[in-house]
Amino acid sequence: MNADVFTLFPQAFDWYLSQVHIRNAVALGHEFRLTDYRAHTPLGHLQVDDTPYGGGAGMVLRIDVVCAALEAVFPGDADRVRDGRRVVELTPKGRQLDDALASELAAGDVDLVLLCGRYEGIDERVTHLITDRVSIGPYVLSGGEIAAMATLDAVTRKLPGVISNPESIVSESHAPELEGGAEYPHYTRPAGFRGWEVPEVLRSGHHGEIERWRAEQVRKR
Ligand code: ADE
Repeated sequence: MNADVFTLFPQAFDWYLSQVHIRNAVALGHEFRLTDYRAHTPLGHLQVDDTPYGGGAGMVLRIDVVCAALEAVFPGDADRVRDGRRVVELTPKGRQLDDALASELAAGDVDLVLLCGRYEGIDERVTHLITDRVSIGPYVLSGGEIAAMATLDAVTRKLPGVISNPESIVSESHAPELEGGAEYPHYTRPAGFRGWEVPEVLRSGHHGEIERWRAEQVRKR
């Protein structure tokens, strides 16, 4: 998978892209690229946004700036970038990110292009460029960067070989294997701490009973 993120704040991704599972993904041949809209703006004074037609608060990221940035990375017309790729606008108005959407975006090794907005978002004509609108929840963030990282993270974990123990992905919370439910609880040493005890069954060594107990916990949650 190639993942291209378009943002006004590429430095916001420094910490995230240095995480071990991203480095694992890169070692497996996946690529993560950041493009700063501002570096490709056709406007003077590094302008990228403008006031909304019709009036109102805030600034809107200009469509000519978004197109110029896309065309700098993908030669050809910006509205062709979505041919064979998922071009995602991060916006609170999008489809909510869940396990099924993360699996869908990770499937088939299709390249991802993530467009982060700031201010009041991107000019609505971005609809000519995108395949998807994704939200990470019903609240408004200051920009799409955190949402892009959440999306990349949920998707990258699903790429084969990125997480060294594949079982840990299959049995994760919200995976279809748990019928959409949350994962069973995890404990580690010490077995007792301030009177808070690890359930006896987990220390029993009876794998059958442990499985049954975990299944029961998933049902209860
Ligand atoms: N940009 C601002 N808020 C957002 C949200 N909740 N999800 C995705 N992108 C956003």
